[in-house]
Amino acid sequence: MRQAGRSLPEYLRVREGISMLDSCTRPELITEITLQPLRRYDVDAAILFSDIVVPLRAVGVDVDIKAGIGPVVERPVRTSADLERLRALDPSDVPYVTEAVRMLVAELDGLPLIGFAGGPFTLASYLVEGGPSKNHDKTKALMYADPPLWHALLGRLADITISFLGVQVAAGASAVQLFDSWVGAVSPADYRRSVLPHTSRIFTALAGTGVPRIHFGVGTGELLGLMGEAGADVVGVDWRIPLDEAARRVGPGKALQGNLDAAVLLAPWDVIEERASEVIERGRLAEGHVFNLGHGVLPETDPDVLARLADLVHAESARGGRPEEVGQVVS
Ligand code: CP3
Repeated sequence: MRQAGRSLPEYLRVREGISMLDSCTRPELITEITLQPLRRYDVDAAILFSDIVVPLRAVGVDVDIKAGIGPVVERPVRTSADLERLRALDPSDVPYVTEAVRMLVAELDGLPLIGFAGGPFTLASYLVEGGPSKNHDKTKALMYADPPLWHALLGRLADITISFLGVQVAAGASAVQLFDSWVGAVSPADYRRSVLPHTSRIFTALAGTGVPRIHFGVGTGELLGLMGEAGADVVGVDWRIPLDEAARRVGPGKALQGNLDAAVLLAPWDVIEERASEVIERGRLAEGHVFNLGHGVLPETDPDVLARLADLVHAESARGGRPEEVGQVVS
């Protein structure tokens, strides 16, 4: 999940004086930051240090990540003329990603590296709103008012995403995660009509690579079935819905990822232990389960608690169920 490393003193130290997006273009720094959580936590995979707006910046969009705010776009995308600024992404636009992934795969010695990209609705929201948004009103207004422009926008974003994920897989990433973090803002009918065709195209394009495809969004309880239909192998679930119910909604043939409430990690250890064990127990009812948080690590989380959690998940999942399928922990 995003920002697992943000609370670590060693992360803050190497980032000093370097902006977020600049740090995503330096292969040595990307490698170092990706490895930092692995030195502390006994997790079963690493997630590439990057951001969902990296490919947008790489094609020339005037996006920046402002500390404490998030991605901000100087000139929002709202007309068909604005679409011209969203050209296709060529692998040569992101040489630092290729280089970092190669370096990481060599360092990781068989531990899987998860690559990622932003989902079409979430990227569209940053572009249309011009920054973070609570209700995504302008984005949804465009979706309702001008379907041809909406589909043209999401089509271009899907092309960029296919290319960006392709770069990561070609360089050696062993799984990919599509973060459509804010897609929970739309109804199931609108998701099916306005988002799913594009997401589906992304997952279909990656099918031939053979790497597992993970699909995650926040507040997507009502969309889980459709998100599975879009073609991922694993559906990420936020903390709002128990995993056994999520498994019922997602349907057969998919694994789940999730879903401990990140805020639980601020409570005393006995509470954490009880809640994490409950997630594992419910996860046993799914066809496969990757243990994770329901969303990003909160910056005030004690790193020692995360280390203890990773150990707990390994111990609990070894205690019965289907250990070969459950209890993978991802940083
Ligand atoms: O932990 C990691 O380093 C994993 C890599 C990662 C980052 N962003 C680095 C990052 C991942 C997987 C992301 C994905 C991402 N970025 C998402 C999808 C995941 C989710 O949270 O749902 C989204 C929506 C973004 C956009 C974004 N980038 C936001 C909202 C912010 C927070 C801004 C803030 O300061 O509150 C960022 C910045 C960001 N991306 C940080 C990191 C480590 C923190 C910036 C910093 O350290 O200066």
